[in-house]
Formats: sequence, structure tokens, C-alpha cells
Amino acid sequence: MKTIAFDVYGTLIDPQDIIREVEKLESQKAESLVDIWRSKQLEYTFRRGLMKLYVDFSQCTREALDYACLQTRTNLTDTQKKQLVEAYQFLPAFPDVEKSLLELKQAGHRLFAFSNGTKIGVETVLKNAGIINYFEGVVSADSIQTFKPDPAVYQHLIGKTKSEHSQTWLVSGNSFDIIGAVNFGLKAAWVKRNPSVILDPWGVEPTVIISSLSELNSCLGN
Ligand code: LAC
Repeated sequence: MKTIAFDVYGTLIDPQDIIREVEKLESQKAESLVDIWRSKQLEYTFRRGLMKLYVDFSQCTREALDYACLQTRTNLTDTQKKQLVEAYQFLPAFPDVEKSLLELKQAGHRLFAFSNGTKIGVETVLKNAGIINYFEGVVSADSIQTFKPDPAVYQHLIGKTKSEHSQTWLVSGNSFDIIGAVNFGLKAAWVKRNPSVILDPWGVEPTVIISSLSELNSCLGN
């Protein structure tokens, strides 16, 4: 029996799907706006973690949206921006998620959602995506007011789940998270759904690389 901690945005839940909402408001620049929004959202968490200037993930999301609008010269009203940030709570799960969670749960593993998002934000998005019931709990970086890949967040995971490093897997589509978990001594499965995505060349290897969550169950003996 393993403890499996799933990253949320980019692993269970598809943040790129927000493009559908953006396109309703701004069709031409939607793609670049969404790309800038997501990369700034992550950058803001990293910078705030380093600066010890914590605000929660939803504020990073909102400030990153403001930045993306400025950079792409997209005029959205405050109400429209609020609408987009709210739509973040209704993002869908990737298609391979539900069946794989069921299989892992039936195999007896302990499943956790493990995110930089707040507990309430993560619970809401997982509930809306119809997958909350597969999880024993949500472990949020918000509880300790910093963000992955700060090692303190992986330590928080170990503390909350009361599990051993060697029995604990981080499953993530985000390379920063994989490197953070391996650095901390956890097992890590990198979910590489898109073959063209690359892992940062830091000389750190995930324990396994999978192209779909459906491959995870058979890899957990590694
Ligand atoms: C998460 C995002 C940041 O932690 O990947 O859910």
C-alpha cells in the first residue's frame, strides 16, 4: 500500500481548458493570454515563496491574469476577470483521471490531492470535476503559507499523511514539482501526456515517466 499524492492543476485538472472561457471574451489573443496567465501564475508562487511574501494561490492567479491582460493588451473589466477566476473552480479533470483513481483506490492505495491551491479551492474544483470521493484528503501548501517546490511543503505532506518517504509517491505533470519531490527524497511519477514537454535539465530524474495516469498502478513497485 502506497501513499500517492497527486498534484492538482496540470495533473488531475486541466488548467488549459480555461481557454474556452477566455475565448468567449477575447477570441484573437486567447491562446497567448492563457499561456502567459498560467506561466505567470506559477512564477508568482515561486517568487512569493522565495520572498516570504505569501498570498494564497487564488490571489496569484488573479494577479497573473492582470499581468497577462496587460502584456497582451487585452481589455477585460473587473467583472470579466472575476468571472474567469471563478471559472477556475469548474475546470475539468483530464480524461484518464477518473478510471485510474478508481483502479488505484481499489488496489488499496491511499490517495491524496496535494496542491499549492487552498484546501477549499482544491476541494471545490475536485468536487465540481466529480472526483473528490477518491481522495482520503487534501494536503495544501496554504496550511504552511508557502508553495511547492519549497521542501517544507513535501515535509508537510509526509507529516499530514504519516507516511514514509520510500512509500510516498508524488504524481505530477509539472516538472518543477517532480524535481522538488525527488530532491526531498520521495518517489515521483512524471505524467508526460504531451510528448513534446521536456524536463528541466538539472540532472534529476523522475522515478518513472508515464504518458497517462492509467500506467501508474503498474509502476508503483519501482
Ligand atoms: C498545484 C499546481 C500549482 O499545486 O500545480 O496544484
